[in-house]
Amino acid sequence: MQPFIFRNPTKVIFGKNAADRLPQELAAFGERVLLVYGGGSIKRTGLYDRLVRHLTQSGKKVFEVPGVMPNPRTEKVYEGIAICRSEKIDLVLAVGGGSVIDCSKMIAAGALLDGDFWEELFLNGKSLERSLPLGVILTMPATASEMNGTAVISHWEGNRKLGYADPLLHPYFSILDPVLTMTMPREQVVFGAVDMMSHVFEQYFSPPDDNNLTDELAEGLLRNIRLNLDASLADLRDYQARSNLMWDGTMALNGLLRLGKKGDWQAHKIEHALSAWYDIPHGAGLSIVHPNLLFYIRREAEAKLARYAEKVWGICPQDRTQEEMAFAGLKAMRAYFDSIGAPATLGEVGIPEEAVRDIAYSVSSAEDAGYRALDRRDVYEILKQSLTRREGLPR
Ligand code: NZQ
Ligand code: ZN
Repeated sequence: MQPFIFRNPTKVIFGKNAADRLPQELAAFGERVLLVYGGGSIKRTGLYDRLVRHLTQSGKKVFEVPGVMPNPRTEKVYEGIAICRSEKIDLVLAVGGGSVIDCSKMIAAGALLDGDFWEELFLNGKSLERSLPLGVILTMPATASEMNGTAVISHWEGNRKLGYADPLLHPYFSILDPVLTMTMPREQVVFGAVDMMSHVFEQYFSPPDDNNLTDELAEGLLRNIRLNLDASLADLRDYQARSNLMWDGTMALNGLLRLGKKGDWQAHKIEHALSAWYDIPHGAGLSIVHPNLLFYIRREAEAKLARYAEKVWGICPQDRTQEEMAFAGLKAMRAYFDSIGAPATLGEVGIPEEAVRDIAYSVSSAEDAGYRALDRRDVYEILKQSLTRREGLPR
């Protein structure tokens, strides 16, 4: 195990109809609330009316930032910061998936920051001294933004999508009501689950590889995501499956699976570059990039890929070499992503061959690699290999 310090201050309220606990949580904060939400799903599902009723009955004055789109952009953050400052907001309340939560985190932080949030935090890496309190009502399990201190924002004109992490970005409370996820389109359920699996991979496929608890938790989590994703896709109204999947998503990136591990995050960096140029869903990009990246580093990652094949997929190591086991694990990963309808090639998400070089060379280099640090030529190779489907994983 590597040394670590762990603290996760977010209060999680989980369960059926947990959204109706909002009034109790609101009591701790002042009366001026900024409600941040996405492109309209919460209005279509009736959640908006229900929450506004809770807010007004709790004596809150409600201000709004609607229309936060997937891969949230700097403009929406500036819009929210201006309202926080002019209206003296006491609490930012994010209702949605990772995009809404990340945008809300930067609104809360940027409102109390001297200077420009993008420049100071994302480009200069300044630490936060303070932030407005943030509450979350999660409608889509995927990113774990509801229980971590990270935000990912896109600067569209500069084709940059960057992450920023600070302990002060942790939500004060997060309400996880699995019923709210039932209205997600099937495609988003798939993308969310691929994102969860990718978060586990980023931490699992990295040293140390001793008999540590974190790796065993990761293997259990990967098996659990698969079980509950399969059940969810068979019946999108299966409450037990949807509730398990919701907690799986939070666990995948709330810090617990990082403990004692080096971590990697190169697949995420490459995916963020794809979204920064082509505005594709995060989970779709990961489904293309992550298996190809692991294939590319298969020699350095061979022992762990072999263990993954056995522990996650139940593939028997008897009569197989370590190399054959690693291939079997990679094949199982790709076949599973295919079976749930997640994309395998860049063409499927509208990214043409001509774009690949510019995208590859815009990926920031990997100081935080697990088994092998990739330079830009490596990234270029991985993206070229992501243009076509890999049949049979040839050597
Ligand atoms: O905008 P609305 O209308 O609400 O629709 C959303 C959106 O179109 C829809 N949706 C969400 N809940 C729904 C629903 N539709 C119907 N019923 C519901 N209950 O789903 C679409 C996608 O939402 P989005 O928030 O974009 O998805 P996700 O949660 O996957 O968030 C993706 C963003 O988070 C970043 C990604 O890069 C991307 O920008 N990430 C954030 C991380 C973090 N903060 O720790 C880590 C991740 O690795 C990731 O990078
Ligand atoms: Zn992710």
